[in-house]
Amino acid sequence: MVSCNPNTFLFGSASSSYQYEGAYLSDGKGLNNWDVFTHKPGNIMDGTTGDIAVDQYHLYQEDLNLMKYIGVNSYRFSISWARILPKGRFGNVNVAGIDYYNKLIDALLRRGIQPFVTLTHYDIPQELEERYGAWLSPELQEDFRYYADVCFRSFGDRVKFWTTFNEPNVAVIRGYRSGIYPPSRCSGSFGNCSSGDSCTEPFIAAHNVILSHASAVQKTQGGNIGIVMNCLWYEPFSNSLEDKLAVERALSFYMNWFLDPIILGNYPAEMREILGQDLPAFSNDDLEKLKNGLDFIGINHYSSFYIKDCKISRCEPGAGASKTEGFALRTAIKEGRFIGEPSGLDWLYVYPQGMEKIVMYIKDRYNNTPMFITENGYGCEEKINSKSEDMQNDVNRVDYMRSYLDALANAVRKGADVRGYFAWSLLDNFEWINGYTVRFGLYHVDFATLKRSARLSAAWYRQFIANETKHN
Ligand code: NOJ
Repeated sequence: MVSCNPNTFLFGSASSSYQYEGAYLSDGKGLNNWDVFTHKPGNIMDGTTGDIAVDQYHLYQEDLNLMKYIGVNSYRFSISWARILPKGRFGNVNVAGIDYYNKLIDALLRRGIQPFVTLTHYDIPQELEERYGAWLSPELQEDFRYYADVCFRSFGDRVKFWTTFNEPNVAVIRGYRSGIYPPSRCSGSFGNCSSGDSCTEPFIAAHNVILSHASAVQKTQGGNIGIVMNCLWYEPFSNSLEDKLAVERALSFYMNWFLDPIILGNYPAEMREILGQDLPAFSNDDLEKLKNGLDFIGINHYSSFYIKDCKISRCEPGAGASKTEGFALRTAIKEGRFIGEPSGLDWLYVYPQGMEKIVMYIKDRYNNTPMFITENGYGCEEKINSKSEDMQNDVNRVDYMRSYLDALANAVRKGADVRGYFAWSLLDNFEWINGYTVRFGLYHVDFATLKRSARLSAAWYRQFIANETKHN
C-alpha cells in the first residue's frame, strides 16, 4: 500500500471514464448524457462515440502496467456516475460498477500508485438530465451528495484524494451557453438553438454545481477533497488600463466564478456588479454549507490567450463573459496575434510562462491553498503533426511538457504550494466533440485494434520522473 504522505509530490497521468472506459452498456451501467449525445448524428466531428473508447474497462491491467513502467506514483481517473447509479438516486446501486472500481483501485495500490479520483468528469446519468434538465435544477445537489456518499463509503478506505467536479466552468459554458456539449442549451446570442435569449442559464447551472460541491464536501471521506477548474492564463492585448481590467474580468468570469464562492464565500465583485440580479445569490444556509470549502485546488492548464476590452452588451464578451473564452480566441485569430506557438489545435498555444503565471495568481488570490496540476498536455491532429516528427516521435509534446514543467518549477521555487502534476494523458482517447481526431497520448492507440505503442514522450516522462525522484 502507498502511504498518503502530503510531502510526496505526485507525478501521474490523468483520464476520465467517458474518454477511456468504453463498456458503455456492460454489467448494468446506465446511460449517461454523453452516451446519448454522441449517438445523435452531427454532434461529434468524426461521427464517433465513446462506446468502446480505449476499453480501459477491460484492459486496465495492461494500462496500469504502462503506468508502472513510466514510474508514476498516482493515477487520476473519474468514476462513471451511471455505472455506479444507473438511475441516479432513483434506482439501485450497481454492484458490478462498484466491483470494477474496487478492482481498479486495488490493482493501482498493488503497484504503489495512488488513486486520485474525480466524481464527475462531464458525464451524469441521463435519467437526471431528463428528469430536470441536469444542472439547472437545485435537485441535483441532493443527487450529487447521494452519489458522492456512495463513492466515499465504497472507496474511501483506500482513496485519499477526491475531486468533486472536473472543469465545471467548461461544462456549463458549453452545455448552457454555446450548446456544443450536452444538454445542448444555448443562451444569449450563441448558436442556432431555441432555448431563449436569456444569458442566465450558465450562471444558474454553475450555482447548483457550486452548492453540489459544498454538499458533497459535508460528507466524510477520510482524505483530501478539491475541485478541478479549467484555468487559462490571459495577457492584456495592450498596456491600456481597459485591457488590463478586461483580463481581471476574464479571470473572474471563467475561473474565480467557482473558486471565489468555495474559498472566499461569494462570487467575484466583477460578476456581482455586471450581472446584478441575474447572478443567483447565496442564502444564509448556502453560506453555511460553503464553509466546507476544499482542501486543494485542481488546475487544468494548457494554454493562454490575449484579452482585449470591447464595447459590450451584458451578454457579450468581457461582461456577460462566459463568452470570454470564445472572445479571447476570436481576437487572437482575427488579429493574428497569439501567445506562444500554435499547436495546430485552435485553443492550444504553447506559452509555458502561462503555467507559472496562473499558479502564482491562484497562490496569491487563495492564500496559497495547496494545488495540484490535475492536467497539462499537448494535443494534435494526426495529419497536422508533421514537422520533423511522426506519430511515434512526438518531439513537440516532449518540448511542451519539458517547458511547462520548468515553468511550474519556477512557481514552486517562488513558494507556490503545488503538490502534484498529472500529464494528460497516458493514451490517445476520445476527445469529446473532436472524437478520435485529436491525440494527447504518451502512448499512441490504434483505434482499430486498441494496441498501445509508446511514443517518445512516454520514455521522456519516465526519465524525467526518475531524475526528479531519485533523491527522495
Ligand atoms: C480538459 C478535459 O478535462 C479533458 O477531458 C480533455 O480531454 C482535455 N482538457 C484536453 O482537451
